[in-house]
Amino acid sequence: MSTDESPTQNPRGPQPELTDGTIILRPWRDSDIPAALAGHDETIAHWLGSGEVAPSAAAQRAAVERWRAGWAAGPEVASFVVEHEGEVVGSVEVRVVEGRSEGPGGATGELSWTLYAGHRRRGYATRAVRLLIDYALDDHGLGLSRVRARVEPGNEASLRVATRSGLRREGVERVARGTGDRPETTEYVVLARLVDDPPLSDPTHFRTLLNSFLPRKRGIAQMLLRDLQGRVLLCQLTYKQDWDLPGGVVEVGESPRLAVGREVEEELGLEIEPGALLLTDWLPPWSGWDDAICLVFDGGVHDAAIVERIVRQEREIRSVAFLTPEEVRARATDFTARRIEAALAGDRGYTESGR
Ligand SMILES: CC(C)(COP(=O)(O)OP(=O)(O)OC[C@H]1O[C@@H](n2cnc3c(N)ncnc32)[C@H](O)[C@@H]1OP(=O)(O)O)[C@@H](O)C(=O)NCCC(=O)NCCS
Repeated sequence: MSTDESPTQNPRGPQPELTDGTIILRPWRDSDIPAALAGHDETIAHWLGSGEVAPSAAAQRAAVERWRAGWAAGPEVASFVVEHEGEVVGSVEVRVVEGRSEGPGGATGELSWTLYAGHRRRGYATRAVRLLIDYALDDHGLGLSRVRARVEPGNEASLRVATRSGLRREGVERVARGTGDRPETTEYVVLARLVDDPPLSDPTHFRTLLNSFLPRKRGIAQMLLRDLQGRVLLCQLTYKQDWDLPGGVVEVGESPRLAVGREVEEELGLEIEPGALLLTDWLPPWSGWDDAICLVFDGGVHDAAIVERIVRQEREIRSVAFLTPEEVRARATDFTARRIEAALAGDRGYTESGR
């Protein structure tokens, strides 16, 4: 006997059919099982972390029964077949994972999607996920307030599907090895859409979406202060052995020029108007730090006695001194010494690790 039309206690009634005019999302039928089995391939097995390329017919049947029972029991899971011109081309699912107790209005659903072999790269996944998201966030659908997807950073096709469907990148979730979908999974990119995010057609949506996944590079701003003998002011920091120019990380939304003035005031108690930009130095990733762009501003030429006016921020700065080029070489790391020499030369413009 077919269980295609099992009775439902779901307050939303039977699982609906959804369409955008090109594809249809509809509940699973027993007759979909052969197509689902035939559609599984290495790509699906790889990203879903299943040991075998295709599930057995019994396992697929059990999954279909679980999805059907899941819908019938309440609005916890909605799994749909993706159909195009009468053919089964994939499946999509949303599962309520957080906020059930606060009522549907506060709930988050987790999305997942699979397009079967031979049907990919025709835009069906994007269409299906968009339809599913609209349904999940609609008051007359599942009425969720947030839908999210967790996608491995290397799964480029899925990251594209997510962003094309209006999911905004929120961050990276780390997972202990052996606890993710695949034995080697260590990270998931978390992408989500909220019920009150602007519609996909709105220009603000496009900008905020793009902004959410474009890279953010770290900015560092430093100041080159010289004395009348041509020596350079360096600081010995409390948290590292070597000496460096005064300055620090540019805060989110802060101008590098303001940042360098702020840092010099915080670290040394000196109010110095930053002068011209002497050097842009790219710092490659190093010892656990991400790469960064370091901007060196001119802090002018001062009487060496300025050192006596310095009020050190003791938590960060151990000592401060004007150093000769030889002393800089001896006390700073190679790349810092190269950066200082390039900044002193004044005509290099741009360097990478001081070269
Ligand atoms: C991810 C998947 C569903 C994409 O299906 P699809 O039908 O090819 O997707 P679409 O045709 O809608 O394409 C969406 C975008 O991804 C891009 N894309 C598709 N396959 C790609 C690939 N292998 N590499 C890079 N980009 C790819 C498409 O070009 C398109 O981008 P565009 O609109 O900017 O051109 C399919 O590859 C799949 O089933 N993968 C295995 C299962 C999986 O990873 N599930 C996700 C678990 S969260």
